[in-house]
Amino acid sequence: MTKTWWRDAAIYQIYPRSFQDTNGDGEGDLAGVIERLPFLAGLGVDALWLSPFYKSPNRDGGYDVSDPRDVDPRFGSLVDAKELILKTHEHGMKIIFDIVPNHFSSDHIWFQEALKSKPGSPSRNRFHFYDGRGPEGNEPPNNWNSVFGGPSWSRVKEADGSLGQWYLHLFDSSQPDLNWENPEVAEDFEKTLRFWLDLGIDGFRIDVAHGLAKDAISQNHPDPEGLTRALRLDVVDMEKTVRENLLKDIPFFDRDGVHQIYRQWRKILDSYEGDRMSVAEILVFPTIRGTRYVRPDELHQIFNFDFLVAPWDATMIKESIDRTLREVATVGAPATWVLCNHDSSRIVSRLGDSDKAKALSMILHALPGGIYIYQGEELGLPDADVPSEFRQDPVFFRSNGSDNGRDGCRVPLPWLSAAENYGFSTGSPWLPQPKAWADYAVDVESADPNSFLNFYKKSLALRKSHPALGGEDSIQWIESPESVLHFQRSLGLQIIANLGAETYSLNFTSEVEILHSSRVEIVVQDGVLNVPSNTTVWLQF
Ligand code: NOJ
Repeated sequence: MTKTWWRDAAIYQIYPRSFQDTNGDGEGDLAGVIERLPFLAGLGVDALWLSPFYKSPNRDGGYDVSDPRDVDPRFGSLVDAKELILKTHEHGMKIIFDIVPNHFSSDHIWFQEALKSKPGSPSRNRFHFYDGRGPEGNEPPNNWNSVFGGPSWSRVKEADGSLGQWYLHLFDSSQPDLNWENPEVAEDFEKTLRFWLDLGIDGFRIDVAHGLAKDAISQNHPDPEGLTRALRLDVVDMEKTVRENLLKDIPFFDRDGVHQIYRQWRKILDSYEGDRMSVAEILVFPTIRGTRYVRPDELHQIFNFDFLVAPWDATMIKESIDRTLREVATVGAPATWVLCNHDSSRIVSRLGDSDKAKALSMILHALPGGIYIYQGEELGLPDADVPSEFRQDPVFFRSNGSDNGRDGCRVPLPWLSAAENYGFSTGSPWLPQPKAWADYAVDVESADPNSFLNFYKKSLALRKSHPALGGEDSIQWIESPESVLHFQRSLGLQIIANLGAETYSLNFTSEVEILHSSRVEIVVQDGVLNVPSNTTVWLQF
């Protein structure tokens, strides 16, 4: 197998709006990312993934793109984007951008044209416009729900002011779904891919990669409410078999039609010099279906949601690891591992405890394949409690406030404990930063050898320097109690994670060195290692 950078890279996700502001408008910008490149290089990550910064009315955090080949003024300009690419490379890191092919913003010129055009016109055919049902067309074309809650159809007013056709939006009503059966859509996205690849980026993260093809639009779904609930990452109130049944066949996700699109994209990526890659955001069931996206002539990686949602339970984490490794091996793709992103609860909050978060991160950093780190994860940030008057996520509004949405994990980063807005911005941050965040600021954590930040730096540094870490060599499980994960990589490296409530003790007859541990006080004494509850240790034999 040829070793290429992305197969085992540590990729750091930047949510640009909350990373670093340089112009005092309270929102992060590309110049801010450039300013912080030394921090990122020092952290020890291999690559950056930037969430969207394209022209957008920003009704879904920039995932509502109105011009995919330009930078939104709130983030800067194309000149900044070019400088960012260049300087990231100068700092020895790769850089990938987000691409959002399932939908455009309703502000995109195509949708504006479609609104002014007649039913059945070529402009409408770039989206999913349908007549409504019922005598007056007052009922939407089918009963599908938006993933964000509420109906997935909105009705337009025709040019003469009459109530007209309906358009499909699997997310917010400001995100009309594109019709990928129209060749113009594919052509436009190829142009976008080439536009950014020509500027030198190393690849793409593909938003809702499983959503582009739709089937049976004319049919109702038997349980649209159930399906919306089943699709939630944090679903708790549904029986496993009920959920599995709902997810195994979704008319708007994971249809066969998506694969021809990615075969074409792969050809484009491969036609460029260097080692360009793609990572698919997919949520497909059962997970083995995900491997279809990373067959050798399709995409490169899939984002591992199965691991991201795994509960604090050794058996379930082990199952998720085994399943992932077994499945990706069937197509020769590398595994990826991830704890959180801009759509999920931060790991410290999800597990409710920073000891557990550290212990889990050390499992992740020791696994074969690539890893993803979401900005602020390296500081051990928890979710922020965002007062409702500040909330911006459409999920909050479309669910009538029953779902708080994702703003809590998107609050701007604290850089300097004593500075105004912790050095994020001289203006008022777009989401308020909690008072307690001074303790998490980068300057405070950098100065403390036992901070979360220095702990992450050590994990990343060892992952890079230790010949048995990173890479893709398989792991071997070592027998252990149910609540303990014990596995071995090559060259005598062992990983022990104690997820149980009791201390786990092991006796050694040979020399053993503690390479790294999620608690500082761990030692081997008289041949005995005590691994306390919620702790991971890396051992070198
Ligand atoms: C997934 C993105 O990560 C999320 O933030 C966005 O809201 C949806 N896709 C829709 O684009």
